[in-house]
Amino acid sequence: MDSPFKADALKGKVALLTGGGSGIGFEISTQFGKHGASIAIMGRRKQVLDSAVSALNSLGIPAIGFVGDVRNHEDAKRVVDSTFQHYGHLDILVNAAAGNFLVSAEDLSPNGFRTVMDIDSVGTFTMCHEALKYLKKGGLGRTSSSGGTILNISATLHYTAAWYQIHVSAAKAAIDATTRNLALEWGTDYDIRVNGIAPGPIGDTPGMSKLAPDEITSKARDYMPLYKLGEKWDIAMAAVYLASDAGKYVNGSVLPVDGGLWLSRPRHLPKDAVRQLSRVVEKKSRNAPVGLPKSKL
Ligand code: COA
Repeated sequence: MDSPFKADALKGKVALLTGGGSGIGFEISTQFGKHGASIAIMGRRKQVLDSAVSALNSLGIPAIGFVGDVRNHEDAKRVVDSTFQHYGHLDILVNAAAGNFLVSAEDLSPNGFRTVMDIDSVGTFTMCHEALKYLKKGGLGRTSSSGGTILNISATLHYTAAWYQIHVSAAKAAIDATTRNLALEWGTDYDIRVNGIAPGPIGDTPGMSKLAPDEITSKARDYMPLYKLGEKWDIAMAAVYLASDAGKYVNGSVLPVDGGLWLSRPRHLPKDAVRQLSRVVEKKSRNAPVGLPKSKL
C-alpha cells in the first residue's frame, strides 16, 4: 500500500533500528528509507542482516547492518558508535528487538523470565543510554537545532493480562514505563521525544507464527469481537508519523495500533435484548411504590 506521507518526511535523517532486519522492524526500516532516511540495522544473525541490507539497497535506500545482541552492553555501544561513524549523525533510534515464546508461569524458569526482560526491557534502556550523546540537542554530530527521537516497540499484553505471556507482559510494561520516564527527563533536558508503539497481532511476522499459530487465530476471531490481523505497514506508518515532524508535539505517548483489540470482550447480550430489558427494568422501577425494598421490585 502507498504511504499517505510525503516521500521526504524523513529526508536527511539517520535511523538505527534494533531488530530492524526482520518482521515489523524490517518494515519500519523500509518505510523510513522510502521516506528519505538512511538506515542502520542491528541484529544477531549476519545472514538476516545481509539480506535486509541488500533488499534496502535495491530500493535505493542507504543501509548498513551491524551484528550485535542488545543484551550485550559492549555490542550496544559499538553499534551506536559505528552508526554515528558511518553516517556522521544519528537522529532516530527504534528499539524493535524482542524475544518471545509461549509458556505458562509455572513452567517458566526465572532465567527464561530474565532472558526476555534482558532483551526487551534492559536492551531498550541500554540502547537509549548509548544513543543519548548523539540524540540530545547540541549532541555529537547534530546540525539540527532540535534533539532526535526514540521509538520503543512494546505490546498491549500488559494492559490487562495475557495467558502464557507473563515474561513478555512484564517486559513490555517496563518498556512503556521507560518510554514515559525518558520522555519526561530527556524531553525536558535534551529536547528528545520518546514515544512507543504497541502493535496488536500483525500478520506475517515471526512473533505471530511463534505466539499465535493458525488454530489460535481462528478461535480468537470467535471470542474477540474486534479481532483482526494488522499489517506490518500499519505499524510502520505509525512509526513514520511519530518519528517525523508530523509528531513534533507528541512525547511520552504509547500508541496502540491494534484495531482496538485490547478493548475487546464478548458481547454478553444482543443489542435488541438490551433495549428490551433496559426498558422493562426502568418501567418496573418507575412504577414501584416508594420505599419498597429492592428485593420486591
Ligand atoms: N519455553 C520455556 N522456556 C524457554 C523457552 C520456551 N519456549 N525458550 C527459552 N526458554 C528459557 C530457557 O529454558 C532458558 O532458561 P533456563 O536456563 O532456566 O533453562 C532461557 O529461556 C534462555 O533460553 P536460551 O535458549 O538460552 O536463550 P537465547 O538467548 O538463546 O534465546 C529467546 C532467546 C529464548 C528469547 C529466543 O526465543 C530468541 O532468541 N528469540 C528472538 C526472536 C524472537 O523471539 N522473535 C519474536 C519477537 S515477538
